[in-house]
Amino acid sequence: MCGITGCVGREQTTDDLLAGLRNLEYRGYDSAGLAVQNGEGVAVFKRSGEVSNLCERVRGTHLTGAAGIGHTRWSTHGPPTDANAHPHTDCQNQIAVVHNGIIENHHELRTELRERGHDIESDTDTEVVPHLVAEFLPEATSTEDAFRSAIARLDGSYAIAMLVEGEDAIYAARDGSPLVLGIDEGAHFLASDVPAFLEFTDRVIYLEDGDVAKLTTDEIEITDVDGNSVERSVQTVDWVPEDAKKGEYDHFMHKEIHEQPTALRQAIRGRVDPDTGEVTLEDFPEGSFESIDTVQFVACGTSYHAGLYAAEVLTERGMRTTVHRASEFVVNPPPADDGTLVVGITQSGETADTLAALDDAIERGIRTLAVTNVVGSTAARTCDDALFIRAGPEIGVAATKTFSSQIATLLCLIRALVRDTMDSADHDAELFRALHALPNKVEHVLETSRAQQVAHRYQTSEAHFFIGRHTAQAVALEAALKLKEISYEHAEGFPAGELKHGPLALVTPETPIFAIATGRNDEKLRSNVEEARARKAPVVAVAAADSPVSTVADDHLTIPSTHPDLAGVLANVQLQLLSYQVASLLDRPIDKPRNLAKSVTVE
Ligand code: M6R
Repeated sequence: MCGITGCVGREQTTDDLLAGLRNLEYRGYDSAGLAVQNGEGVAVFKRSGEVSNLCERVRGTHLTGAAGIGHTRWSTHGPPTDANAHPHTDCQNQIAVVHNGIIENHHELRTELRERGHDIESDTDTEVVPHLVAEFLPEATSTEDAFRSAIARLDGSYAIAMLVEGEDAIYAARDGSPLVLGIDEGAHFLASDVPAFLEFTDRVIYLEDGDVAKLTTDEIEITDVDGNSVERSVQTVDWVPEDAKKGEYDHFMHKEIHEQPTALRQAIRGRVDPDTGEVTLEDFPEGSFESIDTVQFVACGTSYHAGLYAAEVLTERGMRTTVHRASEFVVNPPPADDGTLVVGITQSGETADTLAALDDAIERGIRTLAVTNVVGSTAARTCDDALFIRAGPEIGVAATKTFSSQIATLLCLIRALVRDTMDSADHDAELFRALHALPNKVEHVLETSRAQQVAHRYQTSEAHFFIGRHTAQAVALEAALKLKEISYEHAEGFPAGELKHGPLALVTPETPIFAIATGRNDEKLRSNVEEARARKAPVVAVAAADSPVSTVADDHLTIPSTHPDLAGVLANVQLQLLSYQVASLLDRPIDKPRNLAKSVTVE
């Protein structure tokens, strides 16, 4: 949700900023802009639309300079116009600022600044920042001092980067929105997320809330907002530059769907013993969860569906388990006590709704655990513990490989919870041996899928309905989300038994039903399928070849047989491919669906 880039000490500052913005475009693509210290002042270029529009604007300008900042925007305040694009500047165009987040007191600041003679042109909350800095600068002992004074006036959430005329330096501050610094020989980078500069360096410093930083070619200084020096450790990320490139694929989504065997292998590496099915979770030795009797999953979107999936499995093993949409968890927090574990599931670790829910639990003294893909993310740092899904960077706005990796990781967590809290001798060996074999089965699905043919047949349907029971109801919801998100077609997911309680009224020969069978409750699912067939709806079985559901279907997206708790993952891969193929046939911008962004850092 808005991407920030910055670099100092590079020769090709403009090219590097544009490359960084292209790598961050998944965070927003309503408008883009950059500012470069070009020796004569701060040059600012911005354009509504995608980063490619900005590239056009900048082409041929021969911008040089040792320091620069860039921004790709997902609109919160004001429409995606050139004027509202970042960077924003002060009245003299000497201070340029890019921002991710929301400045909640911007109305009040805007009024105050206008009364003091500032001309504020855009609708954005961000524009008050350069004017505030300009207001403090004449009296300040240094630019840092003025920057910190301005930052101290802001309420809300922000990651901010600033450039000031005549200084080869970037000033940055973070509170509530992510900001990471990159360290290279003779150059420093800054970004909302590591892929922005991954091709240059894997050595990073994650800024924390309240940090203010100054980056020059030679140095990084970090202080708190009062100017006290702060130490932050340098970490090495284990992602490689190729992870953040499309390679031979047309879209990141397609690439990431195909990365699932690897992602799954990474998720279970060192955690699942292929022979015994024993699970060992680093950082969670036996007894880690012995005080836990209730688990509350909180998450949004696809991660929420992973929570629903995991909750089915954990409930079945006897644990009191609930699943909450994070945005609702904060509105009406469920009762919790010392025996409760709140598990925040978030790929990015930066989703504002999920972070707010986790903060709520932390404030109430409840134990929290982040299940996330991003080491150093806010969720990983604020929770009592973190468990990483190890999927590698996911760039496509549609979450794909991270869903599979979340399920694999959550199953391992479930095993540790059951181990520590139940008197059961059964250690689910069969499930975990099957989990170890799952990557090969995903490979088989990827090699043999008929999703393209099925997509071709049903792409012009009035609506697409997905049904399933147990873990497959979570997959039904996820499949519908994926299809609507990237194809803009109408899709809904239901627990299969619910179809007859209302949605059946929508079923016609123009509404295919995708029935997702796990090998458990398949007979009941078949009855639900028959109810739809009686209304002449075409049925696609997303099922093993020998499932009773397959015998009553018009079309098939076949999955290899596996443990029932894992069949949903294989079915989901088929349905990811289906969504991809439908969106492709409809010529949709698959990696950048309209109105959406990858990381939603506003509530
Ligand atoms: O980073 P998170 O897992 O917290 O993101 C949560 C949702 O915004 C995300 O899963 C969203 O629903 C996906 N882009 C859907 O494909």
